[in-house]
Formats: sequence, C-alpha cells, structure tokens
Amino acid sequence: MTVTIVGTQLGDEGKGGIVDVFGEAADVVVRYQGGDNAGHTVVHEGEEYKLSLVPSGVVRGKTGVLGNGCVVNPATLFEEIDALRERGMGPDVRVAERAHAILPYHRVLDGVEEEAKGDDLAAGTTGRGIGPTYEDKAGRRGVRIGDLLDPQVLRTRLEYAVPRKRRLLESFDVDPDADRFEGAFDVETLYEEYRAYGERIAEEGMAVDCGEFLARRRAGGDRLMFEGAQGTSLDIDHGSYPYVTSSNPTAGAAAVGSGVGPTVIGGGEVVGIVKAYVSRVGTGPLPTELGFVEGQTPEGGGDTSPEAEDLATYIRDEGGEYGTVTGRPRRVGWLDVPMLRHAAGVNGFTGLAVNHLDTLAGLETVKVGHAYERDGEELLTMPPTTEQWGECEATFREFDGWPDVDWEAVAEEGYDALPTNARAYLEYLEAELGASVYAVGVGPSREETVVVESPWE
Ligand code: IMP
Repeated sequence: MTVTIVGTQLGDEGKGGIVDVFGEAADVVVRYQGGDNAGHTVVHEGEEYKLSLVPSGVVRGKTGVLGNGCVVNPATLFEEIDALRERGMGPDVRVAERAHAILPYHRVLDGVEEEAKGDDLAAGTTGRGIGPTYEDKAGRRGVRIGDLLDPQVLRTRLEYAVPRKRRLLESFDVDPDADRFEGAFDVETLYEEYRAYGERIAEEGMAVDCGEFLARRRAGGDRLMFEGAQGTSLDIDHGSYPYVTSSNPTAGAAAVGSGVGPTVIGGGEVVGIVKAYVSRVGTGPLPTELGFVEGQTPEGGGDTSPEAEDLATYIRDEGGEYGTVTGRPRRVGWLDVPMLRHAAGVNGFTGLAVNHLDTLAGLETVKVGHAYERDGEELLTMPPTTEQWGECEATFREFDGWPDVDWEAVAEEGYDALPTNARAYLEYLEAELGASVYAVGVGPSREETVVVESPWE
C-alpha cells in the first residue's frame, strides 16, 4: 500500500504537516524529486524542525529515502542529519545511488543565470543549484551519488564537467577563480570534498538501489509514503513554464523518481494538498493575487486597492507566508480553482487535504477564483502557456466567512465541529475537484488537523 502526497498549487501548501499526520502509519517516507529547495516545517512535541532535504518523516522515526529523481546536496544532507542527531534523534536516511549530486558550481551558476535573465525571465529560484543539476543530468554530464563512492569515477566525471562549467561561467563575464567561489570550479577541491562525502555515505550505509530497496520493504509488509515537494503549478511539464522548478512534483513522477512501478503508485492513494488560499514565491502570473510584492509580482499584476493590500498583509501574517528556505515574503491571493482543476486532472487525486482554513477565519467574506475570463471566453482550467495564463482575469465566487474558534477542540471533535460556512467551502471544493476531503488543517501542529478519513484504510 502506498500513499502519495502532492502539492496542488505553487508549493508551500503545508504538505509537511499532512505527511506528518498520515505518515504516522507509514514505515518509509520517500522523496522522488527536487532537492534542498523544499522547505518544510514539522512541529513535534512542541519543538519546531525545519528541513529542506531530508524527508520530514524521519523526525518521527520513519526511514527517509531520497529517491533517484532527487538532486542531493551532500553538504545539506549531512548538516540536517547532524542537526537532528544533536537534538537526540537517530535519523535513518537512505540516498539513491542513482540520484544526482548538487555541486558548488551548480549553485553559483543558478545565481548567475538568474541575474542574467533579469526580472522578466528569472524564475526567482531558491538559488540551491537545482536547475543546473537537472540540466547536467539531462546532458549526461552529471555526478551521481553512486559516483561519489568510487573515487576514480568521481575524478573522471569532474575532469569532464569542470572545464565546461568554467567556460560557462566565463561566458557571463565572471571569473571562476574568484575567492568568493571557494574552489567551486576547481577539480582538486571538489574531488576532495565530494570523495569525503562518498566515504561518509558508504560508512553510514546510506546508499541504496532505490527501487530495489523499496520493493524489499514493500514485500516485507511496510507502508510507503511518497512526499512530493513544491507543487503542480511549479512542475516543469505541467506548471507555469518557465517560472517552474526543474523537476516533476506531480504524482506520475513518484514512480519514475523512486523506481517503484506506476501500477503500485496508481494502486494506492494520491492525496492533493490544497491551501485554502494561494501563495507564490518568485515571479509569474497569479490571477487571484491580492496586493503587490516588489520584485516578485509582475508589473500590472495583483489587486493593489488598499483593501486588497490590507487583506494580503493579514493573510501573509496570519498564515506565516514567508519562505522557509529564503525568508522572502510570499505573494498571496484567493484560492485559484482553475489551477486546482488542472492539478486534479494531472495527478488523479483520490483524496484532498485542505490546509490553513484557520488563516481565513474572521473574514466577513471569503472569495475564490472560480473561473477565468480570457478574450471573452470562460475557462475552467489553466491554459497551457504562461502568457495565456497571464491574460486571464479571475471571476470570483463569494462565501460567507467563518469565525475564529478553538481549533484544537474542533480537531478533536472532528469534521462536524467545523463552522458551517467553512464546511460549505470544503464541500464546494470536493464537488469541483471530484475527490473527498481526508483532512483539514486548522493550525500548524499535528493536533490541529481534522482527520476525516485515513488514506491507509
Ligand atoms: P528552484 O526550484 O530553486 O529552481 O526554483 C524554481 C521556482 O520554484 C522558483 O519560483 C521558486 O521560488 C520555486 N520553488 C522551489 N521550491 C519551492 C518550494 O518549496 N516552495 C515554493 N516555491 C518553490
């Protein structure tokens, strides 16, 4: 039995919290794409854990696996593992030998390319080197985790890649030998650092043949949970290209990115995580946007009326909408239902979890972007190009707001204890997306989740 968790929007839907709740019954939590661009926060016994690479399930003693579809920065991997150990935990983390390693030059090139692209084209990346690492993977010049375990192979890979990275950096008029890069473009420096990571991975028995490892765990009766990072509209194929990440957060990638067959993933549950409003980090259109964030909202985008600006600030502060990885304020807006219908089609959800319902509490009226209007035509899902999406005007539906209540008590009592108007909002979503609500997040901690149905049962 598997459960796959996928973001339906633009990341930051609160997947970590739901993985935490539904992961309770899992034995293994697997990431199948992305790298240390995925900030997730888990609150465990009153303590907050911020992780960006290691699957959050390890905080609860699950085996965490970084699948072959991930890009792994070994420095971050060990920083996170060491930080958990310092807090008294014994994290069990495995890394696919087929996963690609992020090297320091990837991070440098990520930043340089973003700067060269300028405001119009830059995706507003997290600067973690994600895109350049996937580029090298596709270009067959990447360094895989398995390569770190074999010094001779590592050297051969670096000797091919590094001179090309140097020339690439020079094409941006940047000196690869500048002190600030600390040897990021030097074969010997990289070889020593990455060989040492390889030794540690081997010593700690972390490297796995991912598909084979997961098949064995499954055969032994273990339950697997697949944790998608980012969200459907950030998917390189199905998102708002080019303002996307360089991998596939969508459910199909759970198979490709872990080596588990698609019939296994499809035979399990696929749960879409929805935030009750929308947020975005970085550039690109956002038809339901409230307010304007300098450097991120495109010119002419966002509702800049004083009421909308106030609402945006309210939602941002109440919802803690500041990047986990970067600390940047996130752009926010009303729920975008065409975006969700698109996500439902791409992922085939069997269930939904709706987060941050408490953030909207206390508002007199809650709006949703029910459809778009473009060239006098009504659209119910996102159009395929970002330019077309940018031309869409949202048409709104209004719901009566719900009061702020004792959410922990509501979570304990169950779904029927939710305010009536909040339930009407959820039922609208179920009807539009053709999937039932399995859980409702009404606060940051695990105790503040209304569990309607377990995907494992
Ligand atoms: P990258 O993944 O660092 O290459 O960034 C590409 C785009 O994805 C940028 O718009 C980022 O802001 C966005 N992004 C990447 N990871 C996350 C995430 O975990 N939450 C929200 N946005 C993200």
